[in-house]
Order: sequence, then C-alpha cells, then structure tokens
Amino acid sequence: MSQWEEHVDRGRLARIATLEQLLEVYERTVIEQSASLYEERHQLTLKKNLLSSQGEASIDGILSVSVDGRILFMNRRFGELWDIQPPVGGGLSYRDALDAMASSSSESAEDFQSRATVADDAERRDELTLSDGRILERYTAPIIDDEVGLLGRVWHFRDVTKSKRNLRLREEFIASVSHELRTPLTSIRGALDLMAAGVVGDVSPEALALVKTARTNCERLSRLIDDVLDIERIEAGRMLLRLGPLELESVAERSIEAMKPYGSELGVHFSLENSAPGGVVCGDGDRLIQVMENLLSNAAKYSHHAGEVRVGIERRGTFLRVTVTDRGCGIPQELQDRIFERFTPREAGDTPKRTGTGLGLSIARAIVEHHRGTIDFESTPGEGSTFYFSLPEYRAELEDLVG
Ligand SMILES: Nc1ncnc2c1ncn2[C@@H]1O[C@H](COP(=O)(O)OP(=O)(O)OP(=O)(O)O)[C@@H](O)[C@H]1O
Ligand SMILES: [Mg+2]
Repeated sequence: MSQWEEHVDRGRLARIATLEQLLEVYERTVIEQSASLYEERHQLTLKKNLLSSQGEASIDGILSVSVDGRILFMNRRFGELWDIQPPVGGGLSYRDALDAMASSSSESAEDFQSRATVADDAERRDELTLSDGRILERYTAPIIDDEVGLLGRVWHFRDVTKSKRNLRLREEFIASVSHELRTPLTSIRGALDLMAAGVVGDVSPEALALVKTARTNCERLSRLIDDVLDIERIEAGRMLLRLGPLELESVAERSIEAMKPYGSELGVHFSLENSAPGGVVCGDGDRLIQVMENLLSNAAKYSHHAGEVRVGIERRGTFLRVTVTDRGCGIPQELQDRIFERFTPREAGDTPKRTGTGLGLSIARAIVEHHRGTIDFESTPGEGSTFYFSLPEYRAELEDLVG
C-alpha cells in the first residue's frame, strides 16, 4: 500500500470511529427519551385514574359537559340519582341526559333546559324538587383551563331530602313545643296576678309570698323558652337583626333601668360612667339590650351584697367598647375557657341566687358577632370580673364605605 493509500485508509477509520461514537450518543438519547415518555404516560394514566376514581368516590352525582355539548364525565351516583343508565360502551348524548333529567324534575322542561346551558362562566347553587318528592341541591360551575379558557361545565347534585325533612320537623317541633308551653304559662301568670291583686278574696302575707315566688318562676320559665328559641334561631342561621343607628349610651341607660329592680333584690347597685356621649352604632336595640341585661344580671348574681356594678362606654379606634365591671366572686380558672359555651355548669356550693341556665353568654356572643363585634372578659377569682364587647362605630362604618 502506497503512503497515500495508507493516509486515506486512516482517515476513513477515524470517520467510522466518530460515526460510531455519534451513534452511541443517539442510541443513549433515544433510550432516555423513551423512558421519560413512558414515565410521563404512566403518570398521565395515574392522574386520569385518580380523577375518575375521585369522581366515583363522591357523594354527589357529577356530570361534566364540554362547550360543544359532549359528556366528559358522569359518575355512577349521577346515574342512580337521576335513574339514567348510560348505554353499554358509552354513547349517551348530553341531549338524551337532559331529556331524562327534565322528565324527572318538577321544574318545567323549559326552566330545566335554561338552567343547563354550558357556555357561560357563572357559578350557581340552588335546590330542585324531583317529581317523586326528593330534594336535590344543585351546584354548577364552569370548567376553566388557565391557557385554553372555558372547557365546559360541571354539575353536582346532592340528595338533601333527609336533612331538609329533619330540619322542617325540628322547626315544627320547636315551634309547637314553645307554643304549648307559652299558652298555659300565660294563663298561670294571669291567675297569679289576679290572686295577688285580691280579686278572688283576701290573701294572707304568707300566701302572697308564695304567689310572688310562683310569679318569678313563671317569668324564669318564659325567659328560658325565649332563650331556647334564640339558640334555635342562631343554629339555623335565622337570627334576624332589625338594624338602625343607635346611641349606645341610651342602650346602656335603658338596660340599667330595666335591671334596677333585679339589682335591688340582690342588694346590688348599677352605675353608668364614661359613657362616650354621641357614640352611635348600627344595631338592633332589643338585641343589644338583651346582651346588656345578661351581663348586668350576671354581674349582680355574682356580686356580694351591697356590691357596685359599673358600666362604661369608651371609644377605641373605630369601635365603641362597653364594659361591665363587678367586684364579685370572679370566675374560677377552670371555667374561664368554657364561659361562652352553652350550659356552663357552676360549681356546687354557690348560693341559690346564682341560678341560671348557662345560655345567656352564648346568646350574647352570637348577638354581638352578628353585629360584627367581639365580646370577651377578664376576671380574677375572688376579686371580680369585667365583661366587655366592642361594636363598630356607625360613623366610622360610613367613612369606611365612602373611603
Ligand atoms: N360576672 C360574673 N362573675 C362570675 N361568674 C360569671 C359572671 N358572668 C358569668 N359567669 C359565669 O358564667 C356562666 C355562664 O353565664 P351565662 O350568662 O351564660 O349563664 P347564666 O347566667 O348561668 O344563665 P342564664 O344567663 O342563661 O340565665 C355562669 O353560670 C357563671 O358561672
Ligand atoms: Mg346569665
């Protein structure tokens, strides 16, 4: 082989080696890419399975539909609720599903169809009654992809028949029990008043004392019925407030006036100081007086004889704060965390004047919170307690709205 031929041969060999190296690199890349593609496909399958099993695990009947009216997903519960059996192998159209649903609903077909449009981006929640009497909660929301935009709409249907019936039964029960209790109570009270007035003949001082006790207990029972009804309203989210501008000073004065006789019975005097004149809140007068009366009655109940209960009103930023301070027995440490819970028990050994149902503070808190306020207390056992509640000042609220 000539020198020239040897040179050409070496060049070829070098190129072949380079090509071989390149091939190796390509081979590695192809293997790596197909492994990652395989992994991605695996993850996608997992995600798809997870989504559909999550949909199947829901207590709601779910139906999702694409913008062009194709059913994207439909779980078994949906079929059970609406008594729709999709044909084997799929193939149920949205139109067929809608027709079947409209025929089971007590809404007119047009109403039902108009609520079933896919192409808007509103979120809606309502209830519908089926022709067999079942009540379904209906929630619908658009399915929106961050990049693509509106993809379709999803509907959730939940059978709430049982809970609705229970709620109605409970409301009827409470209403009739409170009526059944109130009616005889009114007649007992009337009869006692007539006796005390001597309408049915002279009453001895001993008998009069008994009549008075019976009268006081009638009032207690009547307050208890009111409290139970209040608790019921709070739980059902039906505590309605008749709101209007109210001068807090006058609320405090009226409450003190109303509680004076109760205070005198227990030998406790109420006084109003630092009353922030002109301080107005947007509130329901009767309800705020109810809060004050409970705080005042508590303060009196847990004060010593000849005790003084001081009421104050002060401005704190955009809030007005009412405080009720007593120098009574205070609240035991172990009770302090539970004071706003219902039926908070008082330790044995208390004097009889300290009777109560343990509902007052929980109702007071609900009322204050419905006014967008807060209520709390500070207490040193053996030294006394200060209860305070804060409400947004009316002017500040207006400024907030304007600003
Ligand atoms: N000023 C106070 N001093 C000491 N203890 C108090 C005071 N205020 C409330 N408590 C304690 O908190 C408990 C709950 O008060 P709450 O007003 O809710 O119920 P109540 O007064 O016992 O009954 P009700 O108000 O329903 O007639 C009381 O039973 C008492 O133990
Ligand atoms: Mg009370």
